[in-house]
Amino acid sequence: MKLFIDSADINEIREAAEMGVLDGVTTNPSLVAKTGKTFETVVKEILEVVDGPVSLEVVSTDFEGMMREADDLVKYGENVVIKIPLIRDGIKATKALSDKGVKVNVTLCFSPMQALIAAKAGAAYISPFVGRLDDISHDGMELIQQIVDIYGNYMFDTEVLVASVRNPIHMLEAALMGADVATVPFKVIGQLIKHPLTDSGLQQFLADWEKVPK
Ligand code: G3P
Repeated sequence: MKLFIDSADINEIREAAEMGVLDGVTTNPSLVAKTGKTFETVVKEILEVVDGPVSLEVVSTDFEGMMREADDLVKYGENVVIKIPLIRDGIKATKALSDKGVKVNVTLCFSPMQALIAAKAGAAYISPFVGRLDDISHDGMELIQQIVDIYGNYMFDTEVLVASVRNPIHMLEAALMGADVATVPFKVIGQLIKHPLTDSGLQQFLADWEKVPK
C-alpha cells in the first residue's frame, strides 16, 4: 500500500519524507492557500524533496483551461500528476491527458459511478473523499469498498487513492479493503505510528537499563 502525504507544507513533507516511508504527495488549492506562499514556490519546494508522484490541482473548470494548466504543470517535473475535478469537462480533460501519457488524479469523487467514469477516461488515480462523506452521515469507507470491487471486476488500472483521511481507522479499513494508496495528513501519519504501550514499554526498558551494572 502506498502512503502519500496530503499537505503543501514543506516542513511536514520533509519530516514525513525523512522517515523513508513516503511514496508521494497530494495537494489542493486549500492546502496551498494555507502555506501563505505562491503556488510556484510551493511546487518547487515539494519537488525538490519528493521523487514520487506529486498531485497538483488545476483551478480551471473548463476543458481548454484545464488543458492549458496541465501543459504548464507537467513542465515542473516528470513526477507531476495533474489533479482534475470530477466534472464533465474534467472527465474530458482526463481522457485527453491520459491519451497523451499524462497521469491524472481525478479528485472530489463521492460516488462509485463517478469513479467508474473516471477509470474509463483513463485516470491514473481516483480520489474518493471519505472524511467528507462521513461528515454528512454517509459511510465514506463503503464507497472505497464499492470502487475496489468495481475496478476489480473490470481490471481497471486506475489506482484507488483514499483521500480526506481523518484518522487511523480510515487507513486501517483502506488497507484491509486493498486500496492502492491513502493520502494522509501529517497529524494522522503521527497517529499511525504512536501507541501508548510502545511508549510505556520503552520507558520501562530504559529505566531498567539504568539498573544494569556498568
Ligand atoms: O486532498 C484532498 C483531500 O484529502 C481533502 O481532505 O480533510 O479537506 O476533506 P479534507
